[in-house]
Amino acid sequence: MPEQSQIEVAEPDDSKHRAIRSFVIRASRMSPSQKQAYRELWPHWGLELDDGMLDCREVFGRDAPLVFEIGFGMGESLATMAQNEPDKNFVGVEVHPPGVANLLKRIDEREITNLRIYNTDVIEVLKQAIPLQLIERVQIYFPDPWPKKRHHKRRLIQSDFLELLKPRMRSEAILHVATDWQDYAEQTLELLNETKDLTNSVESGFVPRPEYRPVTKFEKRGIGLGHDIYDLVFIHGS
Ligand SMILES: C[S@@+](CC[C@H](N)C(=O)[O-])C[C@H]1O[C@@H](n2cnc3c(N)ncnc32)[C@H](O)[C@@H]1O
Repeated sequence: MPEQSQIEVAEPDDSKHRAIRSFVIRASRMSPSQKQAYRELWPHWGLELDDGMLDCREVFGRDAPLVFEIGFGMGESLATMAQNEPDKNFVGVEVHPPGVANLLKRIDEREITNLRIYNTDVIEVLKQAIPLQLIERVQIYFPDPWPKKRHHKRRLIQSDFLELLKPRMRSEAILHVATDWQDYAEQTLELLNETKDLTNSVESGFVPRPEYRPVTKFEKRGIGLGHDIYDLVFIHGS
């Protein structure tokens, strides 16, 4: 179940810390079939913080490039990507248990073997379980937009978060963000541009949706609202 772990953001006087999360724990009503999937399948495909540092060779039985997806929602697009790229190991992180249960069902139905799941705050996963210089591609698709100005501090993609993430990415690893919220896209572009050790994969700005990224559930919702879609692909360490 999701933990109450939190992103730490410095108070203005820098002497205390205020904990701000990028998500709210919603009342997680799982359908009976989701509950059953969770009970039966989690022991096979779930990863726990208590297991300590992720050992890919032990978990996947092989070394392969690791794709790390943050906030996979219902997991449909992540399941498709894992199927489409069998030569890679995939780890997904999501706090919302019904989404986790849904992805567990997809893994089982489609006999996907190269995907594992954490059901907790990605901040804790990064701190406690992801070794340095491991990740080959980070995917953050349609992160919660927190559209109200006073909520912007809850947005996941902030400099503290990037400082936690970057050392866990390999040299030349990809950071791929997509959003349908123009101001979040622009804010993220500005932040990534000014972040040391990250370089835009194109001369400037956004990229067209790469072939490997399926259209996601929240993307469809955004398109329905008339939003444009913004993909950012940055390279680590170049
Ligand atoms: C707007 S949804 C997008 C879901 C999916 N990627 C899509 O495009 O359909 C964002 C997801 O990120 C998850 N999330 C937000 N903060 C998170 C965190 N700190 N750790 C793990 N998951 C998080 C939320 O629970 C939510 O399911």
